[in-house]
Amino acid sequence: MGGGADDGRDRPRRRHKLGYRATGIDFAPSAIAAAQNSRAGRLGDGPAWRLMDFTTDDIATLPDPAYAVVACRLVYRWLDDKPAFLDRVRHVLAPGGTFWVVTEVAGRRPASDPRKHLGITAAEAETLTAGWSVVRTADLDVLRCYALRP
Ligand SMILES: C[S@@+](CC[C@H](N)C(=O)[O-])C[C@H]1O[C@@H](n2cnc3c(N)ncnc32)[C@H](O)[C@@H]1O
Repeated sequence: MGGGADDGRDRPRRRHKLGYRATGIDFAPSAIAAAQNSRAGRLGDGPAWRLMDFTTDDIATLPDPAYAVVACRLVYRWLDDKPAFLDRVRHVLAPGGTFWVVTEVAGRRPASDPRKHLGITAAEAETLTAGWSVVRTADLDVLRCYALRP
């Protein structure tokens, strides 16, 4: 989830290359256009991109009823209703699947850094990790990666 430009960090495209049938979602037309205009997109060798608001649009319209991996990188921070978002993720995640989240966490940048608001709070992290049977994390500088399993 979260399309954007072809900068080598694009998860749906990488999963597609690994042989998964991947669907990329973003609610910004510019992000979908950037993904579709990437080299892989132009060659038709990439995931199916959907212009969709994952928090409000009908998830029943997604191409598959369930997904082995749901991934969002630098997206969770921006979602207003995080519990509702997480309910929707659980709904589309296949049994035994993995929800992969990469997000900046608060408190890792100096107080003077204008980007320090990009980190999620401890309460938002608790909301993210509550109710999963497995929670694994790995830290990368200001980012934290979460692997969550139902
Ligand atoms: C900071 S960008 C991250 C883009 C990319 N995943 C990356 O790692 O570079 C966040 C993206 O999330 C998308 N986004 C935010 N809320 C969304 C929602 N409710 N449904 C779909 N996309 C959303 C934005 O349009 C934006 O493209």
